[in-house]
Amino acid sequence: MCGIFAYIGKKDDAAEIVLSGLKLLEYRGYDSWGVASKIQNLKLNVLDNNKSKIKFQIDKHIGKIGDAKLSAELKRSSNLAIGHTRWATHGGVVEKNAHPHLDCTRTIAVVHNGIVENYIDLKKMLLSKGHQFISETDTEVIPHLIEENLKTKGFASSVRDAFNQLKGMNAIVVAYSLSSEIVAAKNGSPLVVGKTKDEFMVASDTAGIIKYTNQVLFIKDNEMVILGKDVTLLTLPDGKKIKPQFNKITWKVEDATLGKYKHYMLKEIYEQSKVIRNIAQNYTQQIESVGKIIKKSKGTFFIGAGSAAYACLSGTYFFSKIAHLHVNMSSASEFNYLEDFLNSRSLIIALSQSGETIDIVEPLTRAKIKKSKIVAIVNVLGSTLYRMSDYKLLLGAGPEKAVASTKAYIAKLAVLYALSYAMVDEIEKANQDLLEVAKEAERILDAKYAKQIQRIAQQLAKAVHIYTIGRGASYPTALEAAMKIKEVSYVHTEGLAGGELKHGPLALISKGSPCIVFAPDDETYDAIISNATEIKSRGGVIIGVGPLNNDVFDYWLEVKNIGEASIIAQIIPIQLLAYHMAIIKKLDPDKPRNLAKSVTVK
Ligand code: G6P
Repeated sequence: MCGIFAYIGKKDDAAEIVLSGLKLLEYRGYDSWGVASKIQNLKLNVLDNNKSKIKFQIDKHIGKIGDAKLSAELKRSSNLAIGHTRWATHGGVVEKNAHPHLDCTRTIAVVHNGIVENYIDLKKMLLSKGHQFISETDTEVIPHLIEENLKTKGFASSVRDAFNQLKGMNAIVVAYSLSSEIVAAKNGSPLVVGKTKDEFMVASDTAGIIKYTNQVLFIKDNEMVILGKDVTLLTLPDGKKIKPQFNKITWKVEDATLGKYKHYMLKEIYEQSKVIRNIAQNYTQQIESVGKIIKKSKGTFFIGAGSAAYACLSGTYFFSKIAHLHVNMSSASEFNYLEDFLNSRSLIIALSQSGETIDIVEPLTRAKIKKSKIVAIVNVLGSTLYRMSDYKLLLGAGPEKAVASTKAYIAKLAVLYALSYAMVDEIEKANQDLLEVAKEAERILDAKYAKQIQRIAQQLAKAVHIYTIGRGASYPTALEAAMKIKEVSYVHTEGLAGGELKHGPLALISKGSPCIVFAPDDETYDAIISNATEIKSRGGVIIGVGPLNNDVFDYWLEVKNIGEASIIAQIIPIQLLAYHMAIIKKLDPDKPRNLAKSVTVK
């Protein structure tokens, strides 16, 4: 849940490179940040014994990295630096807890993503040996362990032995001021190495690297990499050398930067028509292959977290209605407790933007032991989920950086929609519908429509509670709509199945309660309008979303009828509504408080 960026190479502004890399990774954690730079232009692969001159200089700050600048000290010439943006787990959000963390001699600097589960025991042992701790973090045990190991071993072996002592799922990058190498190791969170002719970067994801190179090495779990003049890849715990395999990534720099947009959330909402069109035009073969795998399996489970879980729920409706097939769905974090029946004929279709969400990776690790098959529908090439699955379908949505998922969510819906048609050999119909959805997305994202949304956002931004309701395939949309609004505007919003209103929540409706009603022109229309009327009779204010205006609506957000695919388009006005509510409330929609984009700890 943190962002790591490190640089070693020929350039002499390593700290600046790391700072700008961290800015691109900030969506991964944004409560504090830090950069450590080795202020000495050592030639690569040459050891310098003048210890006093080559300690690390560190900048650490609380808050978002935004427009941060380095101190004069860090701006000095350096060809090695490591940095980190933090999402706190152990230890409050205070400067001393920000990474990088140092050992007693200030010659070892560590950035870390994950949780060292046995840090209390390790800390006790290190304290008894006289080490001094400054922070409240679990991370700080790592530089001290390495310091201890360095008494008897070289740098890389000291890091390896220290890493082998850690319990939990961790990724670390370590720099040692007496060495011209950096070492990275992981058994959990992601780490990617980028290389050019004469430099290396290590980052938590490719977004930080594509500015410099499209040649990347995804470090697998239980691997360690040593970067200096060359790259050396080793297995853990034993340290056996293996051949590094670099991949070429196709994402472009513009994909990972803001361009003309003020926020990533807005940019990503606007990219949705392109994302859907791409799926309509280029995915037939891959989707049909997944369809064949489903047909061969006995029991299919869709799993995902957050927005991905709602996409899974939509998938169950698509499958029931279009493919006349029963599929199960589970929130990934709950699948852990539901998977005892899995066997070698079970199929799990895991949906994830990042491919790193711990709630997905964990149950899948266990499912693999039972030899169940895994299909990944994932956005990030080389991610943990990508690597651990038997069949991989990349969403092709490009980097998604706003914490609130928009384009990756809609891409998942588009794939599941096409997949349900593929099950009955009618994928061409789905592709035609998706092209219509792409067109409708463009209409909704037109300036005139956006003005109308802004007017409604002005009203809703004042609300304390909002309700969203839908029936059938619009029920997951109601859940996703509520999630979007609450996470970026901080207005409590509850998503409900229309039919559940009378079983409790109606008690909450009073004069002025806003309720967003998803009313596509399908078999749910009459019943959902009745629910809207029940809310209105108790003083509620109704925002209707659908192709038909209705007297019960106080506001109407038109989404044209595209048959069953209307479900995909109808979330778009609400994504935009949530965005504008955040702007009206002067909140940063890209980085909601307490949240992180990639949830790699439990
Ligand atoms: C976090 C994000 C959500 C996302 C969820 C699952 O909570 O804030 O937007 O839906 O993780 O992420 P994934 O990368 O697995 O799709």
